[in-house]
Amino acid sequence: MTTLQGRRIVLGVTGGIAAYKAIELCRRLVDAGAHVAPILTEGALHFVGETTFSALASERVQTSLWEEESPIPHTRLGQGADLIVVAPATARSIAAYAHGLSDDLLTATLIATRAPVIVCPAMHTEMWEHPAVQDNLELLRSRGVIIVPPAEGRLAGGDVGTGRLAEPETILAEVERILAAEQDLAGVRVLVTAGGTREAIDSVRVITNRSSGKQGHAVADEAASRGALVTLVTTVDRPTPPGAQVIRVSSAAEMEAAVMPIAAEQDVIVMAAAVADFRPAVVVDRKLKKNEFGEGGSPQILLEPTHDFLVDLGERKPAGQVLVGFAAETDDVVDNAKAKLARKRLDLIVANDVGAARCGFEHDTNAVVLIRADGMHQDVPLSDKRTIARAILDSIAALRASV
Ligand code: CTP
Repeated sequence: MTTLQGRRIVLGVTGGIAAYKAIELCRRLVDAGAHVAPILTEGALHFVGETTFSALASERVQTSLWEEESPIPHTRLGQGADLIVVAPATARSIAAYAHGLSDDLLTATLIATRAPVIVCPAMHTEMWEHPAVQDNLELLRSRGVIIVPPAEGRLAGGDVGTGRLAEPETILAEVERILAAEQDLAGVRVLVTAGGTREAIDSVRVITNRSSGKQGHAVADEAASRGALVTLVTTVDRPTPPGAQVIRVSSAAEMEAAVMPIAAEQDVIVMAAAVADFRPAVVVDRKLKKNEFGEGGSPQILLEPTHDFLVDLGERKPAGQVLVGFAAETDDVVDNAKAKLARKRLDLIVANDVGAARCGFEHDTNAVVLIRADGMHQDVPLSDKRTIARAILDSIAALRASV
């Protein structure tokens, strides 16, 4: 039995000359055992015929939001899909998807699905390199959409350059990879913490750090899309994965109070939050006046340490649980991270050089080193935070398989 046997795939075809290659892709998917539902846009119909796809696919082609008996074909197609692949994807369809425009059946289905989506762009080199196209692709990538980039070669009109649709076998291999990896955390209970904590000084002022919570939320998104039962304890107001249990907190003490009672029942805990190490020793429940911070020109706030509850989690870790910490460092990144891994009895630490360009706090990209308690190291080069999340969860899945 192949990975594709019985899997429901929506094949979206948009209006580019490479639409003829989607015919071959459709046939290959069906041959591999998939149930293929094709959606052709109006543009695609200028290049290829409905009859061709209807003859090859597992069900008749859909082209419009308005022609099916059901008034909501996009929710039927989107909810029922195990995966959606758009090949070829034009600049316009990429823009519409990135910005949530859902004025045709394909984009409405893309917005209505929770299944993994693969987008395979094909266009002229000038269009491919345009910042608008690249920015839209980056946006989609940050949301977990898989992009199969175009290849170099002959383009329509005799031009040569980057923009040719990836070959059907390349796209097929990606479909197989996603469907195989997709549900490897099905039913696994994963607790993720995210964001920087805020420690009150008085009723208006806080001490915090530059953590945006993007990396922690990306870990939660990726875990959920792989079937995990996610609990996300977060300090930031960012989108959360569908179906996840979300607990909003602000301070280190609130995060600890949310995490500790449910820690023992988790299979995996990922402490991506940047928990404050110190907090004001006294919190005043009104706004302090400037002159209340001490005499003269050197105002003072007395700090006390917060409790490092990752240490407690390490000490109380039930057998089989995978405990993951983060180490935000600017110097001696790997050595410092290794020391933290040992001190906090972790299974895995994500060492993050927050001083490096385009890495760590506030950025959309990151580069990390994954260090396991058994000494295994993995460098994850500069990538978007969802890709980093994927590498972290791959490592967690491998650890779970080895116990
Ligand atoms: N952590 C925690 N509670 C704290 C501080 C940190 O649970 N009070 C967790 C973080 O969520 C992270 C890991 O410990 O997963 C490492 O945090 P980091 O601030 O890098 O390390 P510290 O132990 O605080 O060491 P230092 O600040 O000296 O680098």
